[in-house]
Amino acid sequence: MVKRLVLAIALVGALAAVWSAPAAQKGKAAGDAAKGKELFAQTCAPCHSATSKTANVGPGLKGLFKEKTMPATGRPVSVAVVKSQIQKGGGGMPAFGSKYNAQELNDLIAYLRAL
Ligand code: HEC
Repeated sequence: MVKRLVLAIALVGALAAVWSAPAAQKGKAAGDAAKGKELFAQTCAPCHSATSKTANVGPGLKGLFKEKTMPATGRPVSVAVVKSQIQKGGGGMPAFGSKYNAQELNDLIAYLRAL
């Protein structure tokens, strides 16, 4: 009887793990770096290099997420800070406000993370 109970609990645990796996993958795939690359090329590339840290109109963004601090303002690097920079702009960068929906922002972040 006890053995059966243990078996049943183990089975429920295994099923829960299987069911939750796709959800976890979804979270990971929130941003599509390929789409982010297109958005970046259309809008950000005139002012920002993606292949170096050399400043153009704005700072080069290569390796942005590998740094501890943001290149222009020195704020700690985080997804929230980068999204806020895109939406609010500042320091000579235009605000993009609601130009990008949540998915597109995640696409841009996924691309920037890969630089
Ligand atoms: C018209 C030129 C221009 C465009 C277009 C532009 N930026 Fe910027 N960006 C700037 C300038 C100038 C700064 C420096 C701001 C400062 O000195 O505080 C900057 C700063 C940044 C920073 C660093 C902010 C910090 O806190 O150090 C990030 C990240 C960034 N831009 C991302 C983007 C992304 C992503 C896009 C496209 C959605 C974009 N920018 C479009 C001009 C631009």
